[in-house]
Amino acid sequence: MDRIRGLLKLSALAFVLFVGLASISLPRARGWSKEGHIMTCRIAQNLLGPEAAHAVENLLPHDLNGDLSALCTWPDQIRHWYRYRWTSPLHFIDTPDKACTFDYSRDCVKDACVDGAIQNFTSQLLHYREGTADRRYNLTEALLFLSHFMGDIHQPMHVGFTSDEGGNTIDLRWYRHKSNLHHVWDREIILTALKDFYDKDMDLWQKDIEGNFTDGIWFDDVASWKDCGDILSCPDKYAKESINIACKWGYKGVKEGATLTDDYFDSRMPIVMKRIAQGGVRLAMFLNQIFGDTEEGLASPT
Ligand SMILES: *[C@@H]1O[C@H](CO)[C@@H](O)[C@H](O)[C@H]1NC(C)=O
Ligand SMILES: *[C@@H]1O[C@H](CO)[C@@H](O)[C@H](O)[C@H]1NC(C)=O
Ligand SMILES: *[C@@H]1O[C@H](CO)[C@@H](O)[C@H](O)[C@H]1NC(C)=O
Repeated sequence: MDRIRGLLKLSALAFVLFVGLASISLPRARGWSKEGHIMTCRIAQNLLGPEAAHAVENLLPHDLNGDLSALCTWPDQIRHWYRYRWTSPLHFIDTPDKACTFDYSRDCVKDACVDGAIQNFTSQLLHYREGTADRRYNLTEALLFLSHFMGDIHQPMHVGFTSDEGGNTIDLRWYRHKSNLHHVWDREIILTALKDFYDKDMDLWQKDIEGNFTDGIWFDDVASWKDCGDILSCPDKYAKESINIACKWGYKGVKEGATLTDDYFDSRMPIVMKRIAQGGVRLAMFLNQIFGDTEEGLASPT
């Protein structure tokens, strides 16, 4: 009897330990939801010139027929694998609490942030055209990382405060269910919009976004979105935009334990949509420049 009781106690202890460890190592969400990333990549894909479209098709696994959006979420899937643990800090930027500024040398020590990562993978891909690619680098992976991180740097809460991990530790309610501030920007707003306005149809959603920059509300802004001298210096601008939005719209008026509903959704949804559109337009601009298409004008979505 005693032995059995001992064994039971031991296994109970093991169970507690297991659950404890499992919850410690549970990944905290970071990054647009899969819907946000897929949309960024779909928008970009429709804006690629022939050279970039060809290079993308070459670099992707052949069964994908050049469909970049199919693998845009890959960096989120592998970030906790041992082999790819170095990529985990590359999805975001932690800035000092309440500062509402971004400073590369202060916030991206050893280039380990989403801005540094975009520059890193852009530089690797720039060798593709010259045929001087460094054999250490896998350019398929570089393409997937660049495409993913271009989405992330546009998610305002990815350039957030250090102590709350970009809103991850600010627990609150989104309408009736539990969530946190980071997740509201990653996914909740997108899912609510998809349900309320697009009948959960990604294609309808995509058409609406594309319509708004080809001849809708953002038409006049697109040139300035793409404005960028040396592409390696541009992610700096995108990060600065994000922390500004995070302060002005993300954190603003939100306290731990709050319940966010229509007021927050109605005022923030247009910002989320615009950031996804910008991420897509800029990803296309990067890929077109990297792979040798001129960036004169914007190819219209097909
Ligand atoms: C750049 O990418 C290489 C792998 O392709 C990686 O080893 C290196 O750590 C990366 N550096 C940054 C800052 O992302
Ligand atoms: C490059 O990376 C992809 C994805 O991890 C992998 O499937 C492929 O085999 C790699 N290619 C080379 C040449 O190592
Ligand atoms: C597109 O613009 C219309 C207003 O013309 C707006 O109602 C709609 O929400 C916008 N769509 C997106 C995805 O931003």
